[in-house]
Amino acid sequence: MFTKKTVRDIDVRGKRVLLRADYNVPLDSKGTITDDYRIKKSLSTIQYLLDQDCKLIICSHLGRPSGPNDTKNSLFPIAKRLKELLNRDVEFVPDCVGERAEKVSASLQPGQVALLENLRFHPEEERDDEAFAKQLASLADIFVQDGFGVVHRAHASTDAVTHYLPSVAGLLLENEVDTITNVMINPGRPLVAVIGGSKIADKIDILYRFIDIADMVAIGGAMANTFLLAEGIIRTTWASKV
Ligand code: 3PG
Repeated sequence: MFTKKTVRDIDVRGKRVLLRADYNVPLDSKGTITDDYRIKKSLSTIQYLLDQDCKLIICSHLGRPSGPNDTKNSLFPIAKRLKELLNRDVEFVPDCVGERAEKVSASLQPGQVALLENLRFHPEEERDDEAFAKQLASLADIFVQDGFGVVHRAHASTDAVTHYLPSVAGLLLENEVDTITNVMINPGRPLVAVIGGSKIADKIDILYRFIDIADMVAIGGAMANTFLLAEGIIRTTWASKV
């Protein structure tokens, strides 16, 4: 069971909340979102906080940008989609720190939502930089971590920021951790682990765990190519480089 404090355990009413989401969603070459599942899954925590009259500042990374001018990794399309899903205005802030972000944060009213530009446009994010984290923290009274896909990273918006703000988990993070914990500790049988996506280097340890726990492991997506390559079924794959 989830052992950390969540948004339900503290008084968030009327507070300015910095919500760390994982909006690392796939985009096509025109910048259109091809799968908005992660955005939809973030709605339960957002709705909970809005019901508590919070002033909401959402931050996320998207992709692995080479710098601030890597505009194909802008979170602008995510702000648009979030607005549609929430059926309320979402102010897009073109930088995650600095004067503009501070102004927006200071002027937000209860029930209003702002989405900050890609955290990784600042190299300090991935360096877990304390000064950068302090700037992010200055935008809010409370930090809520709801980006399950990114909590294993020690970055400024996942680690250092918690040194400057009271920090709790969101409802999605709680749900994801509970789900995976149940599967690891007390799985229903037969258990089939379906593992896909890319980044095999990040997932190899999980694969070893599931080889022990599951009755069957099914591998799909780009990761499957690595296995096909190892089996000699295909000769080359970009996935073999990751
Ligand atoms: C993911 O999609 O796996 C998470 O958003 C983390 O992204 P990262 O591997 O680029 O840190």
